This record gives sequence, structure tokens and C-alpha cells, in this order.
Amino acid sequence: MKNIDANGHVRGESLFIDDILTKQHCLHAAVLAADVAHAKDVVIDVQQAEKFPGVEKILLAKDITGENQVGGILLDEPLLCEGEIHFQGMPLAVIVAESDFIAKRARELIEVSYTELPVITTAKEAFEKGQFINDARSFNLGDVDEAFDDCQYVFEDKTFSNGQEHLYLETQGAYAEKQENGCIKLMSSTQGPTVVQRIAARILGVAMHKIEVDVTRLGGGFGGKEDQATPWACMAALATHVLNKPVKLILDRHDDLKMTGKRHPYESTFKIGLDENYKIKAFEVRFLQNSGAAADLSPAIAERTLFHATNSYFIPNVKTTVHSCKTNLPPNTAFRGFGGPQGMVVIESAIAKAAEQLGIPAYKIQQANLLSENDVFSYGQVAEKVEAKKVWQQLSDKININVVEQSIEEFNQNNQQFKKGMAVMPICFGISFTNTPMNHARALVHIYQDGSVGISTGAVEMGQSVNTKMLQVAAQTFSINPDLIKLETTNTTRVANTSPSAASSTADLNGKALIKACNALLERLKHVAADELSVGVDTLEIKNGWVEVNGEKTELDWKNLVFKTFWKRICLTENAHYATPIIKFDKSKEKGHPFAYHVYGAALIQTTVDCLRGTYEIDCVDIVHDFGKSMNKGVDLGQVEGALAQGIGWMTMEEVAYNEQGRLLSNTLSTYKIPDIFSIAKDITVEALKTEGHDMAIFKSKAVGEPPLMYGIGAYFAIANAIKAFNKDYQIKFHSPMTPEKVMMGLYEKSI
Ligand code: MTE
Ligand code: HPA
Ligand code: MOS
Repeated sequence: MKNIDANGHVRGESLFIDDILTKQHCLHAAVLAADVAHAKDVVIDVQQAEKFPGVEKILLAKDITGENQVGGILLDEPLLCEGEIHFQGMPLAVIVAESDFIAKRARELIEVSYTELPVITTAKEAFEKGQFINDARSFNLGDVDEAFDDCQYVFEDKTFSNGQEHLYLETQGAYAEKQENGCIKLMSSTQGPTVVQRIAARILGVAMHKIEVDVTRLGGGFGGKEDQATPWACMAALATHVLNKPVKLILDRHDDLKMTGKRHPYESTFKIGLDENYKIKAFEVRFLQNSGAAADLSPAIAERTLFHATNSYFIPNVKTTVHSCKTNLPPNTAFRGFGGPQGMVVIESAIAKAAEQLGIPAYKIQQANLLSENDVFSYGQVAEKVEAKKVWQQLSDKININVVEQSIEEFNQNNQQFKKGMAVMPICFGISFTNTPMNHARALVHIYQDGSVGISTGAVEMGQSVNTKMLQVAAQTFSINPDLIKLETTNTTRVANTSPSAASSTADLNGKALIKACNALLERLKHVAADELSVGVDTLEIKNGWVEVNGEKTELDWKNLVFKTFWKRICLTENAHYATPIIKFDKSKEKGHPFAYHVYGAALIQTTVDCLRGTYEIDCVDIVHDFGKSMNKGVDLGQVEGALAQGIGWMTMEEVAYNEQGRLLSNTLSTYKIPDIFSIAKDITVEALKTEGHDMAIFKSKAVGEPPLMYGIGAYFAIANAIKAFNKDYQIKFHSPMTPEKVMMGLYEKSI
């Protein structure tokens, strides 16, 4: 089945927030943000601005009717500045006016005075000054100190991975309308309708039932709308609450880039120990996470960094520690992989470091350390149904790594200006919210008396095609024509207390709830059919829209059966709840079984570097990916290719740059470069791992949203290897992204 949104998207008919037809008298809001990163004694003078024709009101912290607090995990983030500025881009005031244009003109008239304070922009500086979001966390296994003593080889170095801008095509935005009895309806471009509902209620000082959040779809989220869609929705809600008129607030691209957090940059130091057979015996890392000025999701993201610090390798002695360092950058947030990629970059750097020092290809170390069945992760989960070696094997069956290696060597001997390099990137990603209590979902199914079906779940469509998968689940479970089924908007009044659509778990959680709801309805329908046809329920099935008895089609079809059931006054609505079984985690011991299952895969990336210009091309990426039993090959392939492009972008060209005053320099699309059709890998092959899938996954079809992003990490090392082929003095810096500037420096650096 194709993505059910495809036609609407291509024809420009799909609705996003800014396409909603607003009511008469709708007001438009713009946000004034701080232009310095750290200050006290902030005074905001709106006198001139408020007089600007067409301005309705300028909202300040004092206008907040509830609590001025949008923090989720920690209560450390005001919606609007109250005396102190913590980052450049921090919201100070909301200008509400007749038009967006007027709001932005008036914004320029607001005068802000303050006393500037010293600014911290790097994790290292915050670490040295003892500025943290919360306490450090450590996952430990075995005894590293003892193990290092016994190692044949020990190497140490440091790694830096930079942030990443989400660059969802649809910028942040919301539209609020007053209902009767002080209720507010909020249309938000959010991954977390319930997060928006809960925090908006807090900001307004009303009960959650007074706020209804409705989400049609997102023009991309990528984690950037898991928590950070909330402030804008709260501002629109507050303005509506105060002014009694509909209010729309859409950030333009420039404001969005400046005001929202990004993927967390990490600075890390590592130590790796190997025995004479290249078995990794010990691994120690200290991760410094640049959290920004408030917690946002940083503690959870830090935790996932620890969960993935050993990627798909078994290492018997591990000591990993993460510090969430408080800086004066916009609070950094969820981004596809949720801290996992930042963890995996470090172990891959450590392996590349060892390989460089030992003069062997990194893949030999990678291959020698892949996880086996019943190996234990540092967090106590025993690895089951491990596919790490199988994906590696299938990849090397597909393309012989030695042959690739030889052909690259040959090419490099025969070419001076161009050099090629390759790297293998295995992945292992845990599926479930790392925060166990979040792993649940609900589905509400109505069968209407004409046989058509309406489905509501907690799942938010953000381009990952979860609605298509939900439709498939219902169509397959009922065995009816998909045309009879409609996916409703995601709405907090129909499905409440939802977890955000995140952690790649949306289809699993909501899909499993949906199967339960459909099966309950099916049972009811079958009993009616059995009555009608005077046969036992066990003999009866619904197949392709018809009732079958002992495999024989009867006269009774779905529509008739539904109507008869309705006429008998039997309920055609079902609400079901699913909570992932088995998973648990004990934070006091940092041990447990946090993941329903793991997703595996391996990619081989080949690249060509132009040694005159410092530019590079990704020639090809060959992947064997563990889809389980994919329920929608087109959708899942799209997720792999999209995630790969995003991962390569993060590792190679996307350079988030702040100056020392905490001002975002890469604040336009001319200074922030994302992969386009010309920079994407010229050839991508994706082969499905031959496997039975996993029962904890929806229809055994494993979660696919985030894991393939981490294939992109291989691009960094492939380019580094090409540089090495040109310049024997080159030493890998483990400092990403690998921009053409860095390539150029590497090509011509001399050993010291
Ligand atoms: N794909 C598209 N097209 N747009 C997105 O915003 N978000 C990614 C991934 N794939 C995203 C996407 C992220 S960060 C996650 S966690 C998952 O989709 C969320 O959806 P899922 O749980 O249904 O996989
Ligand atoms: N992934 C995404 N979002 C989350 C997670 C996670 O593991 N845990 C809490 N929020
Ligand atoms: Mo995805 S980073 O879990 O929204």
C-alpha cells in the first residue's frame, strides 16, 4: 500500500497549520527573542510598540495566567523571560496583531535593556565551571581498570560531534481558538499532543480537559517537535485566552532557526583496550553533552547515549559516564536517534583510532567484536535474537569487502587527484522509550452503520507514514477494503494521555492497541454472523469483506453484517490499550531490560575525495537492514534512505555554528548546508535481512524510523580513509562534521 498522503502531498492539498482556514477576526502573533545569550536585570519596554496601528496586545511574563513554566523533565524553563536571559533566541514577548506583518514591524519597536553576563557555549567550559543540568549518570559492566592492565593495546583520544538543525519543511506553529466555557482548541504541529495539552493547561492555569489539541499532520518533526512545539502552542493559547479571539502563530524560518534547540553537540574522551586478537576488552568514555540553557529532553537523551555507547559490539568491561552540561545555547532537544548516534560516534572513533595505530582496517576490529546471542549489554539486558553477525555476513555475501578494498587500493595507486575510501558501519538500536512508563498507547475504533470505519490513535503523522501503517493494521485485521477506513486526526479528546510519537515506537505501540480494538469488534461481529447463519463462531471468518463458513463464502458481506449488528443494538465502537510487556529499568542500579527488541544493520560506504579541492562525493552505500518482516516495503525503504541522508548530512556537511557570544551564525539556508539531490549518495542499495522478525514489533515489522540514521556515521570514516590514502601523515581528528574545509586541512597537514 502506498502512503495514503501521497496524492494530497503531490497535489498540494494536504493541510498543515498555516493552511487552516482561520476564523474571522483571527489575530497573528510573532515572538520577540533575546539577542544576547546571557543577561540579568532585563527590562522590556513595549510602550512604543503597543501604539503601532493594528497591534492588539503584547504579552509578557506578567500576563501569564498560570505558571510561567514549560519544562517537561525538569521545571527549569520559563515560557517568557522573567528578568533573566539564558540564551540568544529566548522568548521575551509575544506581539499579537491584526497581521503577521504588523506583529513583526511592531516587534522592532520593543526596547530591551539588560546587564550582560559571561556566556558559556561549549560543554567543556560548562563542565570545568561545574554548570550542569542534573547529576551525571554512569553505566558500568565488569572492571575496566583491571581489564586495561591486561590489554595488549590501549588507546586514548577525544571525539567531537556537532549539533544538527532539524530543518523540518514545516516550521513550528500553532493555531488557537476559544470554545465555550473557557475551553480552547489548539491545532499544533507537535509530535506530542498530550505534552502540548498538559503544558498549555499549566501556562493558562486551567485543567487539562479545558484544552483540546488536534494534530492533522506535521511537515516533518525529526524529534524537533517532541518537546519544542510546545512553547509556540502555549503562546497562541495564552493570547486566545487573554484576548478571546483566534490566534495563529507560525515561526518564519529565520525565527525557527534562531529560537529552537538542535541535536546536542557532544565532546567526549575515550580509552579503548584490545587483546592480541583485536578483541575489545575494555572501553571507557566520558561524554560531555552540550544541553543548552534548560533541561528539555537532555536527561533522557543523555541516557540513550549510554545505552548505545557500545553500538553492536560486546565489550565485557565498560565504564560510561555522561554529564549534561548547562550552556547558554538554546536548549538542545530530541533529534532522530535521541543521543544514540552521539554514543555510537565515540565507539566507532575508538575503533578507528585503534585501527589507525595498529595499521589494520577498522572493519577487522568491528567484525571481531560483534554481539552474539546472550551477550550482556552494560545496562544489564541480555541480547536475544541478535542479528549483528547475520547482517554482517549478508552484507559481505552481497559485496565482498576485500574486493572493494582491493579495487579502492588499485584506484588510489592509479590516481593522484582523486582518492577513494570506504568504511563499514554496523548498527544496533534499542526499541522502546528508554523511560519505561512512556511505553503505552490507545486506539479508538468506530465502525459506522454503513460499514465504513474511523480510526483514532495517539500516533502523529509526520511523514513517516504511520497513518498508512495504521490503516493497514485495521484493513488486515478486519480483512476489508482499505477504502472503507479513514484515519482521523490525532486528538486529545478522542485519545488521551498519549506519549509523543517518538522513539521509533509509534507504529508498534499504537498498532498493537489498534489490533486489540479491531479484534474485540471482530469477535462481536462474528457472534452476530454466527447467529444469522446458524453456525458455530469457530467455523466462521471474515475474509476480503465477506463472511466465510469453513472457508466457503456466504451471502453475508461486511456491510450487511455491520448493519445487522447495529440493528441488534450491539456496540460498534471499541477503545483498546496496549502497554509493552517485559520491559523494565532500575535507575538505582542502572540495570534492567529497557528495550522490547533491538534493530540491527550494516552499511558499507564508499567515497571519492577530490584532493585538489577538498570536496567529496559519496559513491555508494550498500546496506543490509533488519526490517524484521516489513509490513510496507515502500515506506520502510523511504525511512532507510531518508535517515541515511540525514545521518550523512550530520556527519559531513551540516555545520551548526555559534560564535563565542552564543549567537547562531549558521542562521540561514545559505550558511547551513543540508544534503540535496546532488550530494546524496549516487548509488544506494538496501537489502532486507533474511529473518523471521520479532513478536514485539507490529506484525513482526520492526521499528525503522531512527536506526538507519546511524549508517551515516560511516561516511565520516570513509572520507577520513580517503584522506589517508592521499596524505600518509594525516591523523583522524574525530571531529565532525567532515566539511570540505576540514578535508582540505587534512589533505595537506604534516606530521609533527
Ligand atoms: N520521517 C519523516 N518523513 N519525518 C519525520 O519527522 N521523524 C523520525 C522518524 N522518521 C520523521 C521520520 C523520528 S525522530 C522518529 S522518532 C520516527 O520517525 C517517529 O515515527 P515512528 O515512531 O512512527 O517511527
Ligand atoms: N526516545 C524518544 N523520546 C523519548 C525517549 C526515547 O527513548 N525517552 C523519552 N522520550
Ligand atoms: Mo524521534 S528523536 O524519537 O522524535
